[in-house]
Amino acid sequence: MPKIIFNHPDGTSETVEAKAGTSVMLAALTSGVDGIEAECGGSCMCATCHVYIDEAWLDRLPKVQILEDEMLDDTAAERASNSRLSCQIEMTEDLDGLIVTLPDMQI
Ligand code: FES
Repeated sequence: MPKIIFNHPDGTSETVEAKAGTSVMLAALTSGVDGIEAECGGSCMCATCHVYIDEAWLDRLPKVQILEDEMLDDTAAERASNSRLSCQIEMTEDLDGLIVTLPDMQI
């Protein structure tokens, strides 16, 4: 199974395995990774699953769609050029080793 490395704001990190087809958000929640709220359950309606994608991986992800782009304007932590909503990123074998950083707040 592909792995995701979650970096926390305090400098710690944890690696979880994610079934292909699972969103990064769901992989975090089911693995007990703190720092993602996902209030809307993955419907791209809350922006509380905000993460920063490691620059090396940005081009390998599907492009930001209009709704995600709009929701990214409402993140609690500052939006950056590498901001994404983790519920909109579906894991594939090609994303094995994906590195994401969690923001210091989601609400
Ligand atoms: S879980 Fe609500 S936008 Fe991602």
